[in-house]
Amino acid sequence: MQLRGIDKDIIAKLEEAGYTLESLAISSSEELSDKEDIESEIAKKIIEKAQASLGIQPISAMKFLELESKRGRITTSSNELDSVLGGGIWTQELTEIAGGFGSGKTQLCFQLCINVQLPEDEGGLNGNAFFIDTERTFSPRRIVEMASYRELDVEKILNNIYIGSALNTNHLFSIIEQLDSIIEEKNIRLLVVDSFASHFRSEYIGKKRLVERQQRIMQIAEKLIVLAVKHDIAVAVTNQIIANVDEFLFGSPEEPALGFAWAHRPQQRLFFRKSRGSSRIARLFDSSRMPEREALFYVTERGITDAPLPSDFYE
Ligand SMILES: Nc1ncnc2c1ncn2[C@@H]1O[C@H](COP(=O)(O)OP(=O)(O)O)[C@@H](O)[C@H]1O
Ligand SMILES: [Mg+2]
Repeated sequence: MQLRGIDKDIIAKLEEAGYTLESLAISSSEELSDKEDIESEIAKKIIEKAQASLGIQPISAMKFLELESKRGRITTSSNELDSVLGGGIWTQELTEIAGGFGSGKTQLCFQLCINVQLPEDEGGLNGNAFFIDTERTFSPRRIVEMASYRELDVEKILNNIYIGSALNTNHLFSIIEQLDSIIEEKNIRLLVVDSFASHFRSEYIGKKRLVERQQRIMQIAEKLIVLAVKHDIAVAVTNQIIANVDEFLFGSPEEPALGFAWAHRPQQRLFFRKSRGSSRIARLFDSSRMPEREALFYVTERGITDAPLPSDFYE
């Protein structure tokens, strides 16, 4: 790594800490000066230089394609849903899973926490999961059930899922702030926020607080995107739905919560709805990469699947 005008020892120290030009370019000066013990003026200069040096090296679309094809994906355990998503949940981006109560959002998050641990040739990323739980619905028992069906080492699976309980938005914020170091230390390749919407919707009530709420949502969304890119991890966040009386957009008179400001942040947006028995329909309705399509999948005892268990027919 070369940065003109920056002391060689400092560069060596940053390299040793695992920084690259790309990760420096998206770091904050406070973070660099706090964590790496660098004077804040120098930290600022380093970031500017890193940004400038990347700016004068534009990459070709061909190179971009090459980099994109190397990005990791986590299987959802449903081939249909994977195919709609272009191979599963991608690293370096934010995937939103919106849907009504009981539509399977949390179940998919659990499944991803297991699947991220699989080897790459089985649809995983050989890494661990961090689950931010805002609704107190994280269920280790359910993870055990799902992992046992797939004959995985249940204890190992549980040991590699880290949980942060966020009791309010401030708490959510502070957990996310601490993730930079945890992600590297614990080899995290998947971050789940389930649900992203709940605290925002209960704390910021009324029109007066709408602006404040939107700013807060944007701040956290921005942080999540930086984490995804900087650490090459997949970020999945769930969202609730609200009634929409004016339009009929999603095959139901409902739409994802959190409004306009949020709507443009996730690179992939999924909308889940219940169908007969254990079946669910997922629609990818807003993607920077894939066409709008629907997938039929099932939430069974085994977890997320393409086909129901025979017993599911008798529900
Ligand atoms: N152990 C299980 N076996 C079979 N189905 C389950 C099991 N646990 C949950 N489910 C299914 O998942 C649904 C709940 O989905 P969940 O992901 O928690 O909803 P939400 O979208 O509200 O997060 C239940 O209604 C049930 O259909
Ligand atoms: Mg849930």
